[in-house]
Amino acid sequence: MKGQARLFISLLSLGSVIGQVSYTIPEEMAKGSLVGNIVKDLGLESTRLTSGKARIYTRDSDEYIELNRERGVLLVKQRIDREALCRQTTPCALHFQIILENPMEFYSVTVQITDVNDNAPTFEEREIQFKISESAITGAKFVLERAVDLDVGLNDLQRYELKPTDNFALKLYNNADGNKHVEMVLQKPLDREKQEQIFLVLTAVDGGEPQLSGTMLIVITVLDANDNAPVFTQPTYKSAVTENSPKGTVVATVTASDADHGSNGKIAYSITNTLDDVRIFFNINKETGDVTLIGNIDFEESRDFQINIRASDEGGLTDSCKLVVDVQDVNDNKPEINIMSKSNVISEDAKLDTVVTMINIDDKDTGENGKVQCFINENIPFTLKTTTNDFYRLVTDSELDRERSYEYNITVTCSDEGVPTLSSSVTLSLHISDVNDNAPVFESSSYEGYIVENNTPGLSVFTVRARDADWNQNARVSYILEDSSVNGVPVSSYVSISADSGVIHAVRSFDYEQIKDFHFRIKAQDGGSPPLSSNVTVKILIQDQNDNPPQVLYPVQTGGSLVAEMVPRSADVGYLVTKVVAVDVDSGQNAWLSYKLQKATDRALFEVGLQNGEIRTIRQVTDKDAVKQRLSVIVEDNGQPSRSATVIVNVVVADSFPEVLSEFTDFTQDKEYNDNLTFYLVLALAVVSFLFITCLVVIISVKIYRWRQSRIMFHSNLPVIPYYPPRYSDTLGTGTLQHVYNYEVCRTTDSRKSDCKFGGAGSQNVLIMDPSSTGTMQRIQSEKSILDEPDSPLEVRNGTIIIPLLRTSQSLYCMHCIYLIALCSISKEKVKLLLLLLLLLLLLLSLEIKLLPHVYSAPWTCN
Ligand SMILES: *[C@@H]1O[C@H](CO)[C@@H](O)[C@H](O)[C@H]1NC(C)=O
Ligand SMILES: *[C@@H]1O[C@H](CO)[C@@H](O)[C@H](O)[C@H]1NC(C)=O
Repeated sequence: MKGQARLFISLLSLGSVIGQVSYTIPEEMAKGSLVGNIVKDLGLESTRLTSGKARIYTRDSDEYIELNRERGVLLVKQRIDREALCRQTTPCALHFQIILENPMEFYSVTVQITDVNDNAPTFEEREIQFKISESAITGAKFVLERAVDLDVGLNDLQRYELKPTDNFALKLYNNADGNKHVEMVLQKPLDREKQEQIFLVLTAVDGGEPQLSGTMLIVITVLDANDNAPVFTQPTYKSAVTENSPKGTVVATVTASDADHGSNGKIAYSITNTLDDVRIFFNINKETGDVTLIGNIDFEESRDFQINIRASDEGGLTDSCKLVVDVQDVNDNKPEINIMSKSNVISEDAKLDTVVTMINIDDKDTGENGKVQCFINENIPFTLKTTTNDFYRLVTDSELDRERSYEYNITVTCSDEGVPTLSSSVTLSLHISDVNDNAPVFESSSYEGYIVENNTPGLSVFTVRARDADWNQNARVSYILEDSSVNGVPVSSYVSISADSGVIHAVRSFDYEQIKDFHFRIKAQDGGSPPLSSNVTVKILIQDQNDNPPQVLYPVQTGGSLVAEMVPRSADVGYLVTKVVAVDVDSGQNAWLSYKLQKATDRALFEVGLQNGEIRTIRQVTDKDAVKQRLSVIVEDNGQPSRSATVIVNVVVADSFPEVLSEFTDFTQDKEYNDNLTFYLVLALAVVSFLFITCLVVIISVKIYRWRQSRIMFHSNLPVIPYYPPRYSDTLGTGTLQHVYNYEVCRTTDSRKSDCKFGGAGSQNVLIMDPSSTGTMQRIQSEKSILDEPDSPLEVRNGTIIIPLLRTSQSLYCMHCIYLIALCSISKEKVKLLLLLLLLLLLLLSLEIKLLPHVYSAPWTCN
């Protein structure tokens, strides 16, 4: 009886790999004994059990077999008593599954337990009494109590022996149900008078090795004659009862008759079953023979009962019969749903056909009552697949998406086919774990933000927001400003974005006049691994503020020049004098300009077009109107608050240019000069003046000296020798200046620098000095013929000088020239006057030099 395990393996391929392995071991093996090498027999890798967290799943309450994952073997966990496990059923086997995870799969294992002769046949009672009449005829049968051996097969009860065998012989019947039924048959009539009590020993022997046996003492009391034994109407009765029938239900009635009279004919019924459960469930009415239920019978425990009934009369004669009660199944058991293995969480990117849960179904009922169908709720991405009977796998059958549904409550419902049908269900809660499969999505496909110019740096403009359908870290969105450049400057020096909140800040103060709008991209990135991102274009529009006053383009307002518009006295009403042209670099309302007359010499004479800035006369010009009109026009924009600029427009009401000119100087009073230039000119003048005076002093000294000499010579009567310096000439030869010059000294509008222009030789002999000529220069030139008055005396009128040039020595002309140039460039009245005085002095001196006939001028020239 060594623990020799026999092995039977069948590998079935049904979806996930399912194998089946079968071992056979004897009962009563010591704890820890080897059952089988499961790894080898299933053909698994040696580490698979450990990595798959292999475990045994069994429906039995007791675990007899244990799994040693490390060694890959099955061991006996506790003593296995085949008789306790299976009673008389053969073969006796343990069924269980080995469940593996990762991937989820299971193998069925069957361990068949073979019997060991560990039980001796036993009788329920140690002693049995018979009262047998001495008149009992040979061949009378007496049913003996059976012995029971819990072992099976050869180890079960084999035969009986009765000793001594003087009066009785044993008769063994093999019943159809496989039980042995033993009777004692009278062989030799009894004689009460010879032997009142007979003691017999009944021995039951099994076929095991070693042989075991049990004994019972049979005590026979020999009675006086009782001729007839009771006789059952049938040797076997049949009856049926549905399970769960109430107590007291009469299952059957057995009847026996006895031909004797009196007490010898009075029959008492009894149940003679031993060891089994019959007497727990059934009772027989001693007198009537009604067999009634006294317990709850359960089809799932016992499908039929064989009740041995004895009828005995008081004379000691008996008969026996058998009542077979079939238990009828009622659909009283719900299918049992057992979760063998289960995942609570599954990743949303799980492949199709991933096993989520393995289920085992068990319905104790039989037939249709035990046929079970399982299904799950609809519209979920799972399906129930059956592999072998009673085993189901819940697998994924379409893509999972945590964002659609992050949790499934899967209800598995199993119903049997009984009438009425019974069903049970379990709800499995399954969470879907997140995978970073969604990129952040901006709430808007593009953004537009507005910033009013001159903003404070750091101002938050607006917020962009992106949502990520994933979960937790996979949905944590960061905002990143993408590198780009605006007007060649990195966009990061314009705006910044808060990575967490998406708030866009202006980094600098914007000027609408420099930049009106710009755009850039913002990337939203989630925290997954790898991260996903999307981007969006943000356009920032700078909004104008009225931060620029209007600028007047015409008339040009220059510090040192003068603009005058001329209106002929004959001008009609509505005569367009000029147009004030102004611009505003702002835009919109802020650049919408209006023109108003602010101050005017004569308000009744001019008006300014509100929209267009045109200055027109509003009445006829009369002779009484002043020549010089001064208008102050205010140009305002429409901003809030509005900004303005003022322009002075000088208007001359005159028909002829001299009239203009006479009035002109007044306008120049407030002109300004470049101080630097003036300073250099004054310096130059001072130097020239110094040189001149030095020259003059030298000349005068020479003259006085000569004059003294001549006086001495005169007094000494020396002959006078006139001397002419060789290079002196008063003719119009080469290297000398012409007699008449036309100097047009002008100043250009833009450069503010002195510019001398010499006209054609001899064409004109008038010098026109216009120290502040601007646009009106054109007009002055056109009027030149009017002013052409040759040889007019020297005229000095309020700074404008018209000088007929004196015919004098070339050196002095040159001097004059320099002086005049200087003069026309200087505004400082005092300096001018001083220079004028010097000039006059110079003229006088030159005249004086010329008037001295006998004296020669100093030999100097100025080229
Ligand atoms: C699943 O069941 C749980 C608990 O009963 C419940 O809180 C949850 O809302 C259910 N989920 C769905 C998707 O029905
Ligand atoms: C921005 O997103 C678009 C699609 O929306 C994509 O084609 C482009 O490559 C992305 N640009 C960057 C710089 O990531």
